Amino acid sequence: MPAEPSILLRRVFPVPPDAIEEAGKASTEVRRLLRGMGAEPEVVRRAGIVCFEGEMNIALYTKGGRIVLVVREDRVELLFSDRGPGIADIDLVKQPGYSTAPDWARELGFGAGMGIPNMEKNSDEFHIFSRVGQGTVIRATIYRRRDDLGRSGKEA
Ligand SMILES: Nc1ncnc2c1ncn2[C@@H]1O[C@H](COP(=O)(O)OP(=O)(O)O)[C@@H](O)[C@H]1O
Ligand SMILES: [Mg+2]
Repeated sequence: MPAEPSILLRRVFPVPPDAIEEAGKASTEVRRLLRGMGAEPEVVRRAGIVCFEGEMNIALYTKGGRIVLVVREDRVELLFSDRGPGIADIDLVKQPGYSTAPDWARELGFGAGMGIPNMEKNSDEFHIFSRVGQGTVIRATIYRRRDDLGRSGKEA
């Protein structure tokens, strides 16, 4: 198997629980870093959406976690991990409109149930691994070469 292209940049962003006012900081920084590396605007846009939604979900629904940004020559990877509660039904949370957001979050405009669907739509590869009671890991990959964009036939 050919080796993965070497890592150009790796950053870790801790995401504390409940800090809704803080949430959004990692995605702003991810967009800034990618722009600074000369990533295509479309890649910056998609990574920003994926990161923001994953970040909000860690803040809203978990005991906290972190985001790891890995930039390689040909791809941007975003890894989200948290300390629980985990996701029992992964197919269900992928459905547009499904949300368990509390009323206070809905009043702030969250809870449309489109976060995970939009993360999946804006990624070329998207995987959710979860263990109830332990936590969740989400891996999103966005390819950087124009030839690879939309390789899965998805609209960005
Ligand atoms: N990291 C997570 N851990 C546990 N549950 C999660 C996590 N992320 C999302 N969820 C669950 O999936 C649902 C759907 O998430 P999402 O599509 O982002 O919509 P929304 O945040 O608007 O509810 C959430 O309401 C929540 O119940
Ligand atoms: Mg969400």
